[in-house]
Amino acid sequence: MEEIDIKSLKIQLQKEIENSGDLKELNDIFNRYLGKKGELTLILRSLKDLPEKERRETGKSANQAKQEIEKAIDEKRQQLQTTNHKLQTDWFDITAPGEKPVVGHLHPLTQSKRKVEEIFQTMGFSVVEGPEMENEWYNFDALNIPKDHPARDLWDTFYLGNGLLLRTHTSPSQVRFMEKNNPPLRIIVPGTCYRHEATDASHESQLYQVEGLMVDKEVSAANFKAILGEFFRKFFNKNVKFRIRPDFFPFTEPSFDISISCIVCNGKGCSVCKEGGWLEVAGAGMVHPNVFKNAGLNPKDWQGWAFGIGLERLTMLKYKINDIRLFRSGDLRFLQQF
Ligand code: DAH
Repeated sequence: MEEIDIKSLKIQLQKEIENSGDLKELNDIFNRYLGKKGELTLILRSLKDLPEKERRETGKSANQAKQEIEKAIDEKRQQLQTTNHKLQTDWFDITAPGEKPVVGHLHPLTQSKRKVEEIFQTMGFSVVEGPEMENEWYNFDALNIPKDHPARDLWDTFYLGNGLLLRTHTSPSQVRFMEKNNPPLRIIVPGTCYRHEATDASHESQLYQVEGLMVDKEVSAANFKAILGEFFRKFFNKNVKFRIRPDFFPFTEPSFDISISCIVCNGKGCSVCKEGGWLEVAGAGMVHPNVFKNAGLNPKDWQGWAFGIGLERLTMLKYKINDIRLFRSGDLRFLQQF
């Protein structure tokens, strides 16, 4: 056997190994050359018939070729196995729809608050804030609710000691703002209030209010009614019927109770409006002269109206929610609906 044959056989084989595309092809190559009746096997087997000198030389190169080829086949096998494995585990379907990342959203009360702010801002009102921890002067006395006056019972208060308390309404912000700013002015004050009361489907000890205040040389209840109507229309996205009835608040004279025709039953009467057809959503009135005085303004120079709206109440009506406690329950099944 010529050495040149072994060499060309080796080159030919290496090419085939290199080009083999899968394990089966590679196995065939192995069998063809190194199997029982393989070409190289036959060469090696025929060595014994060769003369001494030739046997030694051919034997050496044939054995070497065998080792090299076995090694090449081994390497190729490993390579094929890993790519095969990769193909099976690493593939992905580029036509499959992507996974949606979970994104949060604003709490329904925050959405409402922002909507209220936006509506009043378009009507020239500024949005301001006041402290949640108040003192008795701003929460009561300045608003014409003297100590030991029975009107204080209207607000069940969390007292913190040292004359401090958690504000029971946003009205103290009226006085705080008028002390520092000269009329004419138009503001709304959204914020959290606290009441020491038993909770039920329409009462919570923590609640949101939006205070409104407009002060100028001449402002009237008619002016208030127009702005309120515009607000309701924009907030509920439709014409809502509302009514203004006499009420009592120490800080307004006259005082109003604002109710809207029940959105759930269109005023016909249902469980939400307790069959009455109307729902109370706000208190309001013409700013009391004593409040102007307490804020350092002369009541002879200025007129104003004010209101306080319950934000939970408005939101419950807008979305037909029947229990105020759901808002702060942290229940995702509730929150995800908005
Ligand atoms: N502060 C009142 C409350 O919490 C609501 C209110 C009534 C606010 C009349 C006002 C107002 O500004 O004029 O019940």
